[in-house]
Amino acid sequence: MGKRALIVGSTGLVGNELLHVLLEEKEYDQVVAIVRSPLQLNHTKLTQRVVDFDQLQDTAAYFAVDDVFCCLGTTIKKAQSKEAMYKVDVEYPLTIARMAKDKGAQQYLLISSMGANPHSSVWYSRMKGNLEQELRKLNYQSISILRPSLLLGNRKEFRLGERFSGVILKVASPLFVGPLRKYRAIQAKSVALAMYRAAQMSTSGVTVYSSDQLASIASKEY
Ligand SMILES: NC(=O)c1ccc[n+]([C@@H]2O[C@H](COP(=O)([O-])OP(=O)(O)OC[C@H]3O[C@@H](n4cnc5c(N)ncnc54)[C@H](OP(=O)(O)O)[C@@H]3O)[C@@H](O)[C@H]2O)c1
Repeated sequence: MGKRALIVGSTGLVGNELLHVLLEEKEYDQVVAIVRSPLQLNHTKLTQRVVDFDQLQDTAAYFAVDDVFCCLGTTIKKAQSKEAMYKVDVEYPLTIARMAKDKGAQQYLLISSMGANPHSSVWYSRMKGNLEQELRKLNYQSISILRPSLLLGNRKEFRLGERFSGVILKVASPLFVGPLRKYRAIQAKSVALAMYRAAQMSTSGVTVYSSDQLASIASKEY
């Protein structure tokens, strides 16, 4: 029998790429997508549940899965305050991690960010670092923390800063060699594929993947 996956953030750039991978690959019999607005997608393996993320406890039954894939996140512009952003980027992922663990989930995979560090002087990096730190405390058999650099892909909304950085990083990409490779921008599709492959490796304990490692995992031929 195949496994059950839970995905949160499946309407986003990385999450949507990942959702399609999970639905295509044979390892998973069932893919549960917890969303706040419906996905325009029907698939025999897909169970989608529209929820209020502030009331996740009402949907506990959907957390009885093997693997959890968290691709949630927002921006200050969208969230409009640090508190609101922290809720989406830290509190929801941790609540989901705890609820799925209580229901028997074996592994949790998280899209964090390059530079995540609970001691960083940069608020965003500190926030991502706090999330990683709290996640590590949960007793999962396997935790994969993915730290991509700038994400490339077709976004529904226009993000000027990301678009500008994307152009600069693409041009400068050949200069990022050796230890600088992790600063290269990365396609969301590659992050999604690497996330799926990390789940299949199911390494015990906590594994942190840098952006260049994600690119390398995604580019391997199987
Ligand atoms: N952008 C970058 O270059 C970059 C670089 C490194 C790491 N990251 C991190 O990578 C992760 C994935 O990034 P991404 O660009 O794929 O994200 P994204 O496209 O912005 O998608 C974010 C997902 O989170 C959901 N979400 C946002 N606010 C929510 C809320 N209040 N309640 C419930 N769901 C909510 C969105 O749902 P809706 O569709 O309903 O809004 C969407 O499914 C994020 O954690 C991000 O911080 C991003």
